[in-house]
Amino acid sequence: MDRAAPIGIVGTGYVGLVSAVCFAHLGHHVVCMDIDAAKIARLQAGDVPIYEPGLDKLIDDNVSRLTFTTSYDELLAECRILFIAVDTPPSPSGDADLSRVQHATREIAARGGRRLLVMKSTVPVGTGEKVVADLEALGASGITYASNPEFLREGAAIQDFLEPDRIVIGTSAKEDGDTVEALYRGIDTDVVRTSVPTAEMVKYASNAFLATKISFINEIANVCEQVGADVRTVAHGMGLDHRIGPHFLQAGIGYGGSCFPKDVQALKQLAGNSGYHFQLLNAVIEVNALQKRRVLGKLASRLGKLRGKTVALLGLTFKPHTDDLREAASIVLAGRLIHEGATVRAYDPMLDAGDHPLFPGVVITDEPLRALEGADAAVLVTEWPEFVRLDWVAAAAVMRRPLLIDGRNFIDPAVAAAAGLEYEGIGLGDLGPASAGA
Ligand SMILES: NC(=O)c1ccc[n+]([C@@H]2O[C@H](COP(=O)([O-])OP(=O)(O)OC[C@H]3O[C@@H](n4cnc5c(N)ncnc54)[C@H](O)[C@@H]3O)[C@@H](O)[C@H]2O)c1
Repeated sequence: MDRAAPIGIVGTGYVGLVSAVCFAHLGHHVVCMDIDAAKIARLQAGDVPIYEPGLDKLIDDNVSRLTFTTSYDELLAECRILFIAVDTPPSPSGDADLSRVQHATREIAARGGRRLLVMKSTVPVGTGEKVVADLEALGASGITYASNPEFLREGAAIQDFLEPDRIVIGTSAKEDGDTVEALYRGIDTDVVRTSVPTAEMVKYASNAFLATKISFINEIANVCEQVGADVRTVAHGMGLDHRIGPHFLQAGIGYGGSCFPKDVQALKQLAGNSGYHFQLLNAVIEVNALQKRRVLGKLASRLGKLRGKTVALLGLTFKPHTDDLREAASIVLAGRLIHEGATVRAYDPMLDAGDHPLFPGVVITDEPLRALEGADAAVLVTEWPEFVRLDWVAAAAVMRRPLLIDGRNFIDPAVAAAAGLEYEGIGLGDLGPASAGA
C-alpha cells in the first residue's frame, strides 16, 4: 500500500475529522473536504471546531499529512480512495435522510475517474446498492463501492478508532476490500469482511442492541424503585455473567446523542419498509422517551406543582467529554420544565454563559454554584467528572431546597446525604423515596 497516495474524506465532522487525523497518524496523507467553509477555515487556521479529547494534539502531530479544503476539484485531483463521512440525520418519516450522501456522490461522479467510494456514514441497508445504481446512471462506471461503518464513541473517539473492537468492510469485489483493509495496517483487531448489505446491517444492529441494553436496564431500574432494590448492584451482579457483560448497564435518564435515537428509528423504519414489524425496537424507543419524563415525576412528587419553582440542570451535553448537544436528554427536560412553568437554570462545562438556541428560556451560567443558587431542585443530567468534585456542602447551602435528582446515579448517595442533600437517583429503590438523604 502506497501511504503517499492520499485518502480523501468527504465531511469533516466528528467522524470525518477523527478518521482523517487517525489515518494521518497511521502514516497516510489525507485530504479533508467539507462544504462548511467556516469549519474548513478554522481547521486551516489550526483551530479545532469540535471538542474531542486528544484531537487537537493529534492534529498538531500530523499536520504535515493533513490538507483541508472546500473544493471537490482539489479533493478529486489528488484522491482515488474517498471516504464519505457526511451526516445522515433522521427525516420526518424516520428514514435516514441521505440527501448529503447523494450530493457527495453526484459531485464525485461528475468528475469521473477510477475511484473507490468508502461509506463511513451510517446508512440504511440497501444504500450501497442504490449508490452503485446512481453511479451507473450518472455514467461513472469507474467508481466502485465499499461499506466501512464507523463505531467510534464521541469522547473516546481517537482510542476507539485506533484500537477498535473490530473493523467491518463490505464490498462486492475482493480487491476493494483488500484496499480498504490495507489502509488500517498498523491496527491490530478483528476484521470482518462481508457483503455491502451485511456490513450496513452490522452497524444498525450494533447500535440497536446497545440502545436495547440501555432501555432494558432502565426498565429494571424502574421496577427496582417499586420493589426496593438497587439497580447498581443488580447491574453489577448481571454484568459479571460473561454472557451479559458489564457494559451499557448503567441506569439513567435514557440515551441521546446523534446516533442511537436516529439509528434505532431508522432500523425500525427500514424493517417496516421491508414489511417487518420490529416490535422490540418500538418498546426500546418508547421506554427511552418515557425515561426522561420520569424525572419530571420525581420532581413533582417532592415539590408539588413545578410552576414557580426553580430547577438547575447540571450538564447539558448528551454525554460527558463531548460538546455535542444533538438529541441530548437535557433538551427535552428543559423544554418540559419550562412548559410546566418552572424557571430553569443550567451549567455545562462546554457551554458559555447566556442564552443558547437549543434551550430557549434557560439561563446558562458559567459555574455550577451559580446555577444552583436559590434552586428548589437540581437534576444531574450529564455525568461530567467535575460534578463528583463539586463542593456539595456549598451547593446545598446555596439552594432554596437542597434536592438532587441524580439522573445518572453519579454522585455517591452517602456523599450527598453527608452534604445535607435530599437525594434521589434512578432505580435506587432501597434508599426509599421518603427516607433518601434523611
Ligand atoms: N458522531 C458519532 O459518534 C458517530 C459514530 C459513528 C457513526 N456516525 C455516523 O457518521 C456520519 C457522520 O456523523 P458526524 O457525527 O461526524 O456528523 P457531523 O454533522 O459532525 O459531520 C458531518 C459533516 O459533513 C459535512 N457535509 C454535509 N454534506 C456534505 C457534502 N455534500 N459534502 C461535503 N461535506 C458535507 C457537514 O458540513 C459536516 O461537517 C453519520 O452518518 C453518523 O451517523 C457518527
